[in-house]
Amino acid sequence: MKPSSIRTSLLFLPLLAFLLLATQPRLSRADVGTAAQYSPPYTPTACFGNDPSQFPSSNLFAAAGEGIWDNGASCGRQYLVRCISASVSGTCIPSQTIQVRIVDRAQTSSSRPSRDGATIILSTTAFGTIANASAVAVNVEYQQV
Ligand SMILES: *[C@@H]1O[C@H](CO)[C@@H](O)[C@H](O)[C@H]1NC(C)=O
Repeated sequence: MKPSSIRTSLLFLPLLAFLLLATQPRLSRADVGTAAQYSPPYTPTACFGNDPSQFPSSNLFAAAGEGIWDNGASCGRQYLVRCISASVSGTCIPSQTIQVRIVDRAQTSSSRPSRDGATIILSTTAFGTIANASAVAVNVEYQQV
C-alpha cells in the first residue's frame, strides 16, 4: 500500500471502533452488580405475600439484594438486566436484556438464592433468559426503568 492509502485507512480505524461500540446493546446509566437465581416456592414474598397477581405472566421477576431493597421501596420496581460476564466464558447471553419486577427481598425469600450477597436474585426463567441456567451467579449491568 502507498503511504497515503495507509494514512486513509488509519483515519477510518476510530470510526470503525466507534461503530462497533455503538451497535453493542448497552444500557445507558446502568450500574454493575451480580445476579444470582432462585427457584420455587416463590411465595409468600416480602412485598406482596401470597397474591398470585404479583408475578408477571412472563415470569420475569426478581428478589432484591440489600443494596437495592431500599427498605421495601423497591417492591414493584422494574429493572432492565443484562449479563456482561461470568467466571466461565460463554455463560452470558449478552444479546438478551430482560425487564424484571421486584417482588421479594432476597434476605427473607422462601427459597434461598443460589448465592448470598448478590445485587439481584432472578427467577429461574429470568436468569435462564440472560445466561446459562446452570450458572450460580453472573455479573450484570442493571438499570431501574
Ligand atoms: C451450560 O453450562 C453447563 C455447565 O457448565 C455446560 O455443561 C453446558 O454445556 C452449558 N450450556 C450451554 C448452552 O452453553
